[in-house]
Amino acid sequence: MTPLNLYIHIPFCFAKCPYCAFFSCTNCDDTYEEYFKTLNKEILTKSNLYKNREIQTIYIGGGTPNLVPHKYIVECIENIKKNFQLSKDIEITIEQYPQYITKESLETYKTVGINRISMGLQATGNEELQQLCRRYTYEEFIEKYQLVKKIGFNDIGIDLIFGYPNHTLDQWKQSLKLITQLGIQHISCYSLEVEEGTPYGKLNEQGKLHLPTEIVDREMYHYACEYLNEKGFKQYEISNFAKEGYECKHNLNFWHYQNYVGLGAGAYSRVNNTKSHNPEDIQKYINGEWDIEKEKIKKEDEKIERIMLGLRLNEGIKYNEKLFQKEYMTVVEDRMILNTKGKDMYNKVMQEMV
Ligand SMILES: C[S@@+](CC[C@H](N)C(=O)[O-])C[C@H]1O[C@@H](n2cnc3c(N)ncnc32)[C@H](O)[C@@H]1O
Ligand code: SF4
Repeated sequence: MTPLNLYIHIPFCFAKCPYCAFFSCTNCDDTYEEYFKTLNKEILTKSNLYKNREIQTIYIGGGTPNLVPHKYIVECIENIKKNFQLSKDIEITIEQYPQYITKESLETYKTVGINRISMGLQATGNEELQQLCRRYTYEEFIEKYQLVKKIGFNDIGIDLIFGYPNHTLDQWKQSLKLITQLGIQHISCYSLEVEEGTPYGKLNEQGKLHLPTEIVDREMYHYACEYLNEKGFKQYEISNFAKEGYECKHNLNFWHYQNYVGLGAGAYSRVNNTKSHNPEDIQKYINGEWDIEKEKIKKEDEKIERIMLGLRLNEGIKYNEKLFQKEYMTVVEDRMILNTKGKDMYNKVMQEMV
């Protein structure tokens, strides 16, 4: 059966973090009921379109999926189980903001089949967490993490950000040291993107954002790649590292150009050679405006996208003399792979290629 992956967007946050441009709404509790009613309608409608597909992965992201009462998440998963065909070794991930983790919600997630937890930690120093306006201390994170383990989750990932204002290499080294001692399976390390329209974006425009230099940012990245590898976290993508066998299947399937269907406001889909997305507007979504800007993907564009996604992975893509750039790539057997410089300059390499 043809594989398919589902992404569910939960667009609610308690407060916006100053760096984040993901679509989410604050103080929107009064829309939960209507939002999830619509989401369940969308699940039902789309399940009818993809009857002959087997769902490989479900990724529940946000926003903050654990800000909403867990009954809503359970309803969605039960609805998907009833209406789609699920692979027997399906991966179901949910993103968790540490502060809102509870024993009760974790137990419920486990019962319904969620088997992977992604925790947005970002940093381990309490001053750094404050700088990023995160609403917990590292000690509080540890309590929540221990709860996640105690409930029986054994596929746990942590997100970290580096290169934010006033961040130092020593602080970064300390964060990596602490989290590799926890017994987790997956680490994502994201270099801070200064996004237009966010508080960080605005400060940056005024020249008031004190970011580490590009050289320090790259030093942080190279340190993470080497250190995590030493600690048994194999890099499998530009920003992702995992213990053997614990790579995130959902993201791997995306980079391998498998089809995915996005559910919820702001979610993107790429399926049957067609791209579309739901509006980043909860009211429009509730009113049934789904799959807007539907566009057939041209063969040439598909080829380019496959190359761009494939080169993010450490396994690279099949060797192609015309695309090979000596400065940025190496060849391993019949594959071409980005070297360190290529990973640092991913965007430039892609520009030169297309
Ligand atoms: C969709 S976000 C949400 C996860 C969850 N709401 C949280 O904050 O813990 C997923 C990850 O993207 C990363 N991220 C968000 N904005 C970023 C930015 N501007 N630059 C780099 N990484 C970012 C963070 O590491 C975050 O954990
Ligand atoms: S980083 Fe997470 S919690 Fe913060 S605004 Fe973005 S989605 Fe919400």
